[in-house]
Order: sequence, then C-alpha cells, then structure tokens
Amino acid sequence: MASLSFTSATLPLFALLSVTHAVTCCQKDKTVLLEFKKSLNNPYALASWGSNTDCCGWYCITCDTESGRVSKLDITSTTVTGEIPDSIRELTALTSLTLRKLDLYGEISPKIRLLRNLTYFRLDWNRFSGQIPPWLSELNRLAFLDLSFNRFSGEIPSTFGQFRGKAPTLDLSHNGL
Ligand SMILES: *[C@@H]1O[C@H](CO)[C@@H](O)[C@H](O)[C@H]1NC(C)=O
Repeated sequence: MASLSFTSATLPLFALLSVTHAVTCCQKDKTVLLEFKKSLNNPYALASWGSNTDCCGWYCITCDTESGRVSKLDITSTTVTGEIPDSIRELTALTSLTLRKLDLYGEISPKIRLLRNLTYFRLDWNRFSGQIPPWLSELNRLAFLDLSFNRFSGEIPSTFGQFRGKAPTLDLSHNGL
C-alpha cells in the first residue's frame, strides 16, 4: 500500500518536471550570456541571469528545444546602456536577436556577421550610429531587419539590392540616411 501511494503521488510530479525542464542550457552559451551581462554593467533588467540557474529559464532568453542552445535573445524597452558586446559572436545558434528601445550605441558590431542563422534582427529605437553594414546582405536567412529610429548615416548599402537569401522586410526609417 505504501509503495502504491508513493507511485501515484510521484508520477504526476515527474511528468511535470519533464515538461518544464525539457532542455538544459548549453553551458558555453550560458558563460557567454553572463559575460554579455557583465559587459553591459549588469543591468537590473537581466537580474534573473544568474550563474546558479538554467539559462533557458532566464528573462529574455529562449533555447532551441533539442540542443539547449540559445536561439532567441529579446531585450526590449528597459534600461540597458552600452555597446553590443563582441561576445555575441559566440551565440551562433541565434535565429532571433532583438535589442530594441534600449540605450545602446556605437556601430553594429562586425561580429554579428558570424551569426549565420539569424532570421529576425531588430535594433530599432537606440542610438546606433555609423554606416549600415553592407555585410548584412550576407545573412542569407534574414527575413526581418529593423534598424529604424537610430542615428545611422551615409547611404543605404548597394548590397541591399541583392540579398543572398530572399529579400527581408526592411525598416531603416528615422535615421540620417
Ligand atoms: C543553423 O540552422 C541549421 C538549420 O536549421 C541547423 O542545422 C544548424 O545547427 C544551425 N546552426 C547552429 C550553430 O545552431
């Protein structure tokens, strides 16, 4: 009798755990994210990013359900100031990168060029400046690109006439182009 009640009580619990912990964060990505947070001076918005927890459960993070790699980083409308840390290059499984309505500045890091699987990329409503990088057209999975409401200057790169993949939906408005 004792073992039977033990079984019936624990089974639903196991079922629940296997759903909520379907995937565990890739350790390497977690290290990169902690480095990323530190480079941005540990903003309060990223307070849930702690070394003792699974990064797939952190605020702003989504993981690929098979590999546990970080597939989506979405930080929106909060207080984050600084430049995009170069460590972002290590998050090679990213398909979606959104850093919008923050206070980020500087040029778009050439390291982003290494994120070959990016399909969705938005940096709108920041203070980014410099030229719009011509190499963005090499991201051949890009379907959506929003760089609006920044301080980009110069010309729209001529490479934007010939994206490697299908031409993405683009918003470059409200810059100094
Ligand atoms: C990029 O996407 C492809 C196809 O979805 C996948 O096979 C590959 O593992 C991805 N690369 C990384 C680094 O996750």
